[in-house]
Amino acid sequence: MTDKIVAENLSKVFGDDPDEALELIRSGKTKDEVLAQTGQTIGVHSVDFSVAEGEVFVVMGLSGSGKSTLVRMLNRLIDASDGAIYLDGEDVCTANAAALRRLRLEKITMVFQHFALFPHKTVLENVEYGLKIAGVAPDERRDRARAALDKVGLSAWGDSRPAALSGGMQQRVGLARGLAVDPEILLMDEPFSALDPLIRRDMQNELLALQRELKKTIVFITHDLDEALTLGDRIAIMKEGRFVQVGTAEEIVGNPADDYVAAFTQDIDRARVFDAQSVMDVPEALDLDHDDPSTARRRLDDLRRDSLHVLAKGELAGIVTRRSLAQVEGRRGASLGDALQHEAPTARPDTRLSSLYGACRSGLPVAITDDSGEFIGVVTPEAVFDLLAQDNTTPRAPGTPADEHSADAAPALSA
Ligand SMILES: Nc1ncnc2c1ncn2[C@@H]1O[C@H](COP(=O)(O)OP(=O)(O)OP(=O)(O)O)[C@@H](O)[C@H]1O
Ligand SMILES: [Mg+2]
Repeated sequence: MTDKIVAENLSKVFGDDPDEALELIRSGKTKDEVLAQTGQTIGVHSVDFSVAEGEVFVVMGLSGSGKSTLVRMLNRLIDASDGAIYLDGEDVCTANAAALRRLRLEKITMVFQHFALFPHKTVLENVEYGLKIAGVAPDERRDRARAALDKVGLSAWGDSRPAALSGGMQQRVGLARGLAVDPEILLMDEPFSALDPLIRRDMQNELLALQRELKKTIVFITHDLDEALTLGDRIAIMKEGRFVQVGTAEEIVGNPADDYVAAFTQDIDRARVFDAQSVMDVPEALDLDHDDPSTARRRLDDLRRDSLHVLAKGELAGIVTRRSLAQVEGRRGASLGDALQHEAPTARPDTRLSSLYGACRSGLPVAITDDSGEFIGVVTPEAVFDLLAQDNTTPRAPGTPADEHSADAAPALSA
């Protein structure tokens, strides 16, 4: 995967002597102390990150933590005081006016919280606006604007005025305006914050659906952890201008870096955050063609399990339990097949625990299979409930490194 956005040691000071302010913050002063001493505000301080192509990177934090400042530096709506930004390897901070103009027209578009739709223009004209600025010919921009309106489900509203639309619909128009430009990178600064909760949830789902098709690189700002967990492939938690933790939803909720992060994760429904993979055990299995009921019984005893999956020529054939084995044991010539229950619950590694409750109800371990149907692990109902019972509020032990990359780290989630 290639990095679409790279930010190195990025800082922003609002004030006339940024070096002085940065020097002080690096020496350990707080943001408030720097303000008291120099009259300057630290917006963002020594932030490093990269966003992969097609990734949704969410920046989350309290009001004033520096989210908007950070995202505005990415398209140089404001200039960084220190550090560097690269979009596809191109240095944004040193780009000349022409290069910057081209970047903003082709590469990177910002979608704001308040979309500032022109009330006297039609919805379609509003969507066209960015393209008009970009000098796209009238026919082409009309077509692209219509296609974008269609994507957000508003094709019937092109000739209406914004005032005729609900808040959620107006928000969609704003999104369509961004999509019409068809940028590679979308910067979204709290686009859904003004919406009421139900419409907001709808918009999140729509954005996810759109993203599956469009595969843009998105930097999404929110102060809502639920929204962050829903949308983000990775989430950065920001506090006083710095990143305090960057990770997947599982890493943030399972392993909050400090009390600040833990406080956000407190009320999160873990079943919606964790997936089967995070509680998956190794795929022990019997072989239908080579094992018989007595070897099966010995394996159960060795592994201290009550049931084991059975493979036939490498494919999942079902499951045997102590009970199903007891029913055939002693029967002359009984084979493993005689004890086989064909109905074994299965799920995918990315199935959320909230969707596993049904499968767990049988009491049997759930077989986890990958896209090609290969048996890659088991999830026991006990493992699911153990993880859900863990406390959200415990920050990880000091000195434990933050896990940057999720998939491989996922199974090691102990409290
Ligand atoms: N133009 C400015 N001049 C001076 N200080 C600023 C300016 N813009 C932002 N700041 C300060 O920089 C810090 C970060 O502000 P920023 O707007 O980036 O926060 P935010 O995380 O986006 O907050 P919110 O959630 O309220 O939008 C704050 O302390 C703010 O007061
Ligand atoms: Mg902001």
